[in-house]
Amino acid sequence: MSTEQTIAALGRESRTFEPPADFAANANVKADAYERAEKDRLGFWDEAAQRITWAEPYTDVLDWSGAPHAKWYVGGKLNATYNCVDRHVENGLGDRVAYHFEGEGGDTRTITYKNLQDEVCKAANALTALGVKTGDRVAIYMPMIPETVFAMLACARIGAPHTVIFGGFSAKAIADRVQDCGVEFVITADGGYRKGKASPLKAAVDEALTSCPDVHTVLVVKRTGQEVAWTEGRDKWWSDAVDGQSTEHTPEAFDAEHPLYIMYSSGTTGKPKGILHTTGGYMVGTSYTHYAVFDIKPETDVFWTAADIGWVTGHSYIVYGPLANATTSIMYEGTPDTPHQGRWWEIVQKYKATILYCAPTAIRTFMKWGHQIPAEYDLSSLRLIGSVGEPINPEAWVWYRKNIGGDRTPVVDTWWQTENGQILISPLPGVTATKPGAAMRPLPGIVADVFTEDGKPVGNNEGGYLVVKEPWPGMLRTLWGDDDRFQRTYWDRFPGVYFAGDGAKRDQDGDIWVIGRVDDVMNVSGHRLSTTEIESALVSHDAVAEAAVVGAADATTGQSIEAFVILKQSAHGGGEDIVATLRQHVRDEIGAIASPRSIMLVEELPKTRSGKIMRRLLRDIAENREPGDSTTLADSSVVDRIRSEVSGG
Ligand code: WTA
Repeated sequence: MSTEQTIAALGRESRTFEPPADFAANANVKADAYERAEKDRLGFWDEAAQRITWAEPYTDVLDWSGAPHAKWYVGGKLNATYNCVDRHVENGLGDRVAYHFEGEGGDTRTITYKNLQDEVCKAANALTALGVKTGDRVAIYMPMIPETVFAMLACARIGAPHTVIFGGFSAKAIADRVQDCGVEFVITADGGYRKGKASPLKAAVDEALTSCPDVHTVLVVKRTGQEVAWTEGRDKWWSDAVDGQSTEHTPEAFDAEHPLYIMYSSGTTGKPKGILHTTGGYMVGTSYTHYAVFDIKPETDVFWTAADIGWVTGHSYIVYGPLANATTSIMYEGTPDTPHQGRWWEIVQKYKATILYCAPTAIRTFMKWGHQIPAEYDLSSLRLIGSVGEPINPEAWVWYRKNIGGDRTPVVDTWWQTENGQILISPLPGVTATKPGAAMRPLPGIVADVFTEDGKPVGNNEGGYLVVKEPWPGMLRTLWGDDDRFQRTYWDRFPGVYFAGDGAKRDQDGDIWVIGRVDDVMNVSGHRLSTTEIESALVSHDAVAEAAVVGAADATTGQSIEAFVILKQSAHGGGEDIVATLRQHVRDEIGAIASPRSIMLVEELPKTRSGKIMRRLLRDIAENREPGDSTTLADSSVVDRIRSEVSGG
């Protein structure tokens, strides 16, 4: 939705929803947590850190003397995998299910904590045998299968930071990340199942690695059994390398600030940012928020984050948070409509899921498919449902609560980012009277605010920029290889304060509504994409002279990608073909998720006198709105000309 639409929609839904009385009475976290954290924030995070088993205790909760570079749990040592797996087995929970895995084609696997321990130990031994050392970065390009978790935890166990690359990215995108991160070791699979078909993964890795000479080993999980090309000496089957290894492996304790993983995410330039997370603070942040926001009762809950492990939501709430809390989770490989549009609800019914966490774009798709589809399934096991990744419009929120939550469950709209590592703004399900569409309040221990242009807190009923005023445990520590950009992107806009890049509004009660990005980042079906990145991809094609990309409001996907392209003289007359060619080019450069919905061929772009493209006006055109103020344009008639070109006039 556009900002205007969001604000308009905010006005329409004024109901609030109190937590059910029995939920509130049994909630893990009660209202006093806010007060305790406010009185003694570091004491609060000290207490939360007791959720983690430390091999060596920390001496200080936080060292912020090198701000904005935080050190949390100074001097503490721990192993993330030990915390996610071994300690639960030691505590007699070896038989508890860690994952109910459901393949897209209906194949299933049950992974207990003991199975997880065995598999992770074998994989860790294999990685070491193949030369992976502490500190080496390992890239993981995988479908949603249990081996993806085994691989991540094996890396964490030996202190080799992983960088998981979402399976929808192209060969070029893999190569960029592998090069930027200095990766020498890649884990992939032959393919994965998507929409009923075996889609290739290894082929993309093979292509990527033609420009990554430093990669010496590619470990390949056999998932689909499809044909793969094989580079002798470099490629090894996972089963050959892992299956024969010992299930014994002693986890080494690493410093709290040892890098756990790097996750690339789109920023406002063409180059993705390598967001670095470290071990101690991240484990505390994910474990605590998973416990507090999802009210996890590990003995009885069946938790389902319906997201991809290739994004931060999967890292924090399919892998590290839930496992740290000894939770039973569902992991589903495929798409929501394979083989039918009731697939998710069939899964909820089958495993008696108690908590579901997904993105608004999925919810809006289900709305479009119709409420009669979930109504065919027994969803009465659900006791809490959550939303993440983009603003949820009040209509979708209310639909979700009614048709999935049975008009009974609390809904938590959780705001956070790849950079944050953990949820920062969200209702507490046993405390907060929720408002449809509002993330409500910063969690206990989090100090977030909405700032005016000149860095003052806004008043009620005012909008501004979302900021975080105090460090939090799961925060990013820097951008891999680009500490200057870390400083510039997040800390220079308002000195000493974390600038999120989102716009937000405080309502009449002071509650926070997140509106969406205020920069050149788009949110398409919950995927973060940069306009500049797609523009660079377009311009890299021979036929293109100039390109401008904007995110236009879309009722289902949140935003859609609209490209305006000026062709080189030599490429004129290409017609529909050139549009198809350019669309494919973007898929090759970044991935299918970045493919523009429309590519409009225009003769010129609206620019200011200093030559800056005025994307705001292009958005007006793409959204079919009267263009706003164009007085700063070098040539004010250009908008009219573009509009007539676009409408075919
Ligand atoms: C948006 C996903 C409104 C926001 C965990 C943010 C949201 C970006 C919400 C981060 C929410 C995420 N309400 N907007 N509850 N959650 N966003 O890094 O624009 O993939 O900056 O992390 O998604 O996306 P990312």
